[in-house]
Amino acid sequence: MLETKSFTPTRIAFLNASIIALLGFLLSLLSWRNFTLSLLGSFLIFSVCFFLTKYLVEQFVNRRVKLIYKFIHQTKASKREDFFNKNILPKQSLDEVTEDVLQWSDQRKNEIEILERNEQFRKEFLQNLSHEFKTPAFAIQGYLETLIGGAIENPEVNRKFLGNAFNNTERLIHLINDLDEITKLESGKQELHLQQFVIQDLIQEVFESLSFKTKSKNIHCGFKKGSEQPILVLADKEKIRQVLTNLIDNAIKYGNYDGKVEASVYKTDDVNMLIEISDNGIGVAEEHLPRIFERFYRTDYGRSRNIGGTGLGLAICKHIIEAHGQIIHVRSKPGIGSTFGFTLAKSNS
Ligand SMILES: Nc1ncnc2c1ncn2[C@@H]1O[C@H](COP(=O)(O)OP(=O)(O)O)[C@@H](O)[C@H]1O
Ligand SMILES: [Mg+2]
Repeated sequence: MLETKSFTPTRIAFLNASIIALLGFLLSLLSWRNFTLSLLGSFLIFSVCFFLTKYLVEQFVNRRVKLIYKFIHQTKASKREDFFNKNILPKQSLDEVTEDVLQWSDQRKNEIEILERNEQFRKEFLQNLSHEFKTPAFAIQGYLETLIGGAIENPEVNRKFLGNAFNNTERLIHLINDLDEITKLESGKQELHLQQFVIQDLIQEVFESLSFKTKSKNIHCGFKKGSEQPILVLADKEKIRQVLTNLIDNAIKYGNYDGKVEASVYKTDDVNMLIEISDNGIGVAEEHLPRIFERFYRTDYGRSRNIGGTGLGLAICKHIIEAHGQIIHVRSKPGIGSTFGFTLAKSNS
């Protein structure tokens, strides 16, 4: 049986030339009755047939393959492709062409997968977004409706309802600001303004800026023993302030009354250092830990108690730290507390 799958232009040419040469040999032997002359003649026929067929088959295949290449590149031939079509393609074996096409199709498959994942991401993002906007917007509408409906005359509730409506507008603004921030960070357009500063001073400033919250829950903020020696870091100070503010704010929000928030600063090696913010609050269950830095991700507790967060804080922290080429991580145990840590580059001057 002829194994047509393993046909190559050379094999086709060889088979074709052999059959014609054999027939030519038999015919010429019958008519000339001269063995040597017939053999010579058929050898000539074989050579001409072999090279002609090989050339024509290759031309035919190349023309078809060129069409496929043009199709997969979806372009009119540019100069580079012209060169490729004229000089490289004819020399490529069909196996190489198959390899090329397979590679191309793999690439396309990957691209489609990425697009599909992005599309899914975008859908989830929009769903979350509309949900996050709806809650405060409906609350404002509810309070205002009740006030307009007569509650404005009731001195017992009118201020309270107005206050609630105001708190919800604050929540909306907070959400818009966070969204603005994360969009800027994700577009990668934000530049870092690196400067040297003492990390402990910045942590202290953030502790002080949040003191009204710590006081209301009687939470004690301070440094862990051994972390007091001032260390200069090289980073975008305002962005790191944002990271620390969110981590310490979380530590207070999800911390217990009369609890404590502790900052520690360690030198990890000659280049980097590690900053950790620990609390002895409610902690995070293990199943939530891998997702906690995702946009809008909040544990059931963070959601149900409605403590006022947008669920974007940790996502923003992660973006900022990664933009510095550093890492952020979390360790936590429910009922015991959480430790969020991130690395920063030490300033060596
Ligand atoms: N220190 C912490 N202790 C316990 N849970 C935390 C802590 N920090 C963050 N979380 C959990 O991670 C979620 C995401 O935090 P974040 O992105 O800052 O959002 P937000 O503070 O707006 O809720 C929170 O809703 C909370 O469930
Ligand atoms: Mg937060």
